[in-house]
Amino acid sequence: MGEYFAGAVTDYADGDRKVIDCGEFEVGVFRVGDEFFAWHNRCAHRAGPVCQGRIMKRVIEPVSDDRTTRTLEYDATETNIVCPWHGYEFSIRTGYHQASSRFRLRKAEFTIREGEIYVRT
Ligand code: FES
Repeated sequence: MGEYFAGAVTDYADGDRKVIDCGEFEVGVFRVGDEFFAWHNRCAHRAGPVCQGRIMKRVIEPVSDDRTTRTLEYDATETNIVCPWHGYEFSIRTGYHQASSRFRLRKAEFTIREGEIYVRT
C-alpha cells in the first residue's frame, strides 16, 4: 500500500482541486466547504479525465405553478464536476451522476494527517 502527498489542507481554498499522479492512475482531491473528497480521474461514462473538468454548482430548472419553466438556476447546496469529454455532471460529494445512479465515480481513499493530505492506494 502506498501513499501520495496531495498537499496541505491550507493549500486548498473552498472549491479547489488537485489531480495527483499516483503511479498507474490519477486521483482528484477536492475541497467543498470544509470537507475533502477524492475520486479516481476516470469518468464512469467512457473513462475521460473527469477530475480535470469544470467545477460548478448544480444547474436546476425550477417549475412554476403553471408548470412551465422559464429560467435556470444554480443549486447552492450541490457542487458538481463536469467531465470535459462529454459533459456528464457528477456530484463531488457522492460521485453520482446527477441524472442516473447508473454512473458513479470511483472513490479514492485518503487520509489527513497533521494538516497534510495523503491519497492511499
Ligand atoms: S467520458 Fe466523461 S462524459 Fe464521457
